[in-house]
Amino acid sequence: MTIEATRKYRPTLHFAPKQNWMNDPNGLVYFEGEYHLFFQHNPHDTVHGPMYWGHAVSKDLIQWEELDIALHPDELGTMFSGSAVIDWHNTSGFFPEKPGIVAIFTHHLDRGAGKHAKESQSLAYSHDNGRTWTKYEGNPVLEHDTKIDFRDPKVMWHHETNTWVMVVASEQTISFYTSANLIDWQFESEFGDGIGAHDGVWECTDLFELDVINQDESKWVLIVSVGGNHSLDVGTRTQYYIGTFDGTTFTADPESIDWLDHGRDSYAGVSFSDIPEADGRRIYMAWMTNSKYAQIVPTEGWRGQMNLPRELSLRKHGNIYRLYQQPVRELDTYFTRKYDIHAEVVNQSSEKSYQIDAAPVDINLTIENKDASQYGIQVYHTDEQWTRIVYEAETNRLVLDRANTGNVGFSEYFLQQQAISLEEAKQLKLQIIVDASSIEVFVNDGAYALSSLVYPDQPCKRIEVFAADGSIEIVEGHISTFVKQ
Ligand code: FRU
Repeated sequence: MTIEATRKYRPTLHFAPKQNWMNDPNGLVYFEGEYHLFFQHNPHDTVHGPMYWGHAVSKDLIQWEELDIALHPDELGTMFSGSAVIDWHNTSGFFPEKPGIVAIFTHHLDRGAGKHAKESQSLAYSHDNGRTWTKYEGNPVLEHDTKIDFRDPKVMWHHETNTWVMVVASEQTISFYTSANLIDWQFESEFGDGIGAHDGVWECTDLFELDVINQDESKWVLIVSVGGNHSLDVGTRTQYYIGTFDGTTFTADPESIDWLDHGRDSYAGVSFSDIPEADGRRIYMAWMTNSKYAQIVPTEGWRGQMNLPRELSLRKHGNIYRLYQQPVRELDTYFTRKYDIHAEVVNQSSEKSYQIDAAPVDINLTIENKDASQYGIQVYHTDEQWTRIVYEAETNRLVLDRANTGNVGFSEYFLQQQAISLEEAKQLKLQIIVDASSIEVFVNDGAYALSSLVYPDQPCKRIEVFAADGSIEIVEGHISTFVKQ
């Protein structure tokens, strides 16, 4: 393996492990000036295997420093996904001197051929900002009598009831538990039967409260990763519910259930814990891939990358609540404006072309459709390799086509189009971020997102805006290119 081969497709702005396999983000937590990103990691191979928790830290959510492995397998099993919290008031008794981090994770124990694995929830704690860890001697702290898939605990402090709350995936429901000390857990309720998508096993989950931006109220968001199903083309996806939570029971508004990301490549996402109130953001990060091909994407020496961290917010439209997501603002410092665009008309014979000399690229365009049947953006990675993002007026869909982006032959699913069904509107506001092996699209200030891996020979050399059978106007916009920090 040459250095060049391992550098190929390596992202500039997205976290990827230095070596070997990575899947879900774990233990996302902010503490003493650092964002911590733990991650599902197989340090011995570029495919999934016995799981460890890898570890990286960042001051700005974009540039990450990978540290030593945080959690190693032990006699109770390998380290499956989970969360982390700061135990500010020493409820656990682990921190007599000063607050520290507690990780709540799944022990996954393979019991040999023909037997189901055993999954239970366990604790580890760190007194030195996540650099070294002690497993709690009484592990596991939570087991289930009947459920075989019982994993991915996400813990939060519930202010109203002064208790820890855990949401954890339990086959095809989410179970809710409470605890005073993170050690003794009490079952409270179960959510999910007969509501929302049940294509596959339910995995990584999250629960948090958000203010509704355009209303005088707040709502609770429950995130559920829905595992792949062999009979469906789509693979793994993430679903969200909006509703109420009283400390023990979540009740979903049946109108406000949707996919969190309309692309193929965003899964197992969860949000950061303990971001200071003065900041107030809810920041979400996911694993950017799909079960249909996660283990065979054409990178060498490393495999797996995260989506850009996104700030989440809620808005109400009519009687529906919608989760909005936008890349965190820290990203702006990595770009400089290369093209400012105003009142630019584009039609069939006058596509607009913008040369790019430094990728990644951040494309921001507000486009008004005059009378075109289709319009869009073609990202040229090389002269022969491109990704097309097209708005189709007839169907009101935004479609991303990566069939011609370069290395696509490793999976038939990779050739399929991805689409967002939009409400009818004359104007569309698009933000598109192109890194070495990904394209993330945000529509109308984050009302919709679409994440897609791509494997071109080069990141991006040119952007073209085109229209068919009529004209469009780029009302305003800018295209920004990468600057190193
Ligand atoms: C989701 C998942 C989790 C599990 C982990 C194992 O991708 O299957 O449910 O904890 O990955 O690596």
